[in-house]
Amino acid sequence: MMISIIEGDITTQKVDAIVNAANSSLLGGGGVDGAIHRKAGPELVHECRLLGGCRTGEAKITGGYLLPAKYVIHTVGPVWNGGTMNEDALLASCYRNSFAIAREKGLRSIAFPAISTGIYRFPVERAANIVRDETLAFMKNPGSVSDIRFICFGRETCDIYRDVLADLTSDHEDIDH
Ligand code: APR
Repeated sequence: MMISIIEGDITTQKVDAIVNAANSSLLGGGGVDGAIHRKAGPELVHECRLLGGCRTGEAKITGGYLLPAKYVIHTVGPVWNGGTMNEDALLASCYRNSFAIAREKGLRSIAFPAISTGIYRFPVERAANIVRDETLAFMKNPGSVSDIRFICFGRETCDIYRDVLADLTSDHEDIDH
C-alpha cells in the first residue's frame, strides 16, 4: 500500500479517482469543487444533476471527463460548528464512504483533498487525525486499492498532514506548482 502526501493541485492527479469536497447540491462551488468542475468541463455538472444531490457524509461517483482522473468521487463534508454537531463523525464518514466506493469499483488509486478544512472551516489538525484513523481502518480491507494520496493545497496543511500521518506515509514529495 502506497500512501503519499503531495503538495499541489488535485486536478492534475492521474489516478483512478479524485475526491471532490462538494456541497449537497453537487452542482459545483468554489475551492476544490470549483477547480474540479473547471478542469472536468461541463459534462461533469450534467452528470451530477442526475444524482439528486448528496447528504453530508455521503459520497457519489461520476466520470472524470476532461480530468486526468477516470472518476470523481463527490463527498459532502460537515461545516465546522465548534465540534458539538457530530462534525467528527460526519467527516469520518466522508472518507469511509469514498474509500468504500473505490473498493467496490475495483479502483487502484485514489486522491483526497483536505475535505471540509477550507470554506467549511474544519480545523486541519483535527481533520488530519480523522483521516489517519479512517485510513488505518480502510487498510484492514483495502480490496484493489493500493495507492492513496492526500493532496494538500498549501504548505501549512501539508506540514500538518505530514506530521499527523508520518507513520503511514511510505513516500511524500513536493510538486512545483
Ligand atoms: N487541489 C487540492 N486542494 C485544493 C484545491 C485544489 N485545486 N483547491 C482548494 N483546495 C483545498 C483547500 O485549500 C482546502 O485545504 O481543499 C481543501 C478543502 O477546501 P474547500 O475546497 O473550501 O472545501 P470545503 O472546506 O470542504 O468546503 C466545501 O466549498 O467549494 C465549496 O462547493 C463547495 O460548498 C462547498 C464548500
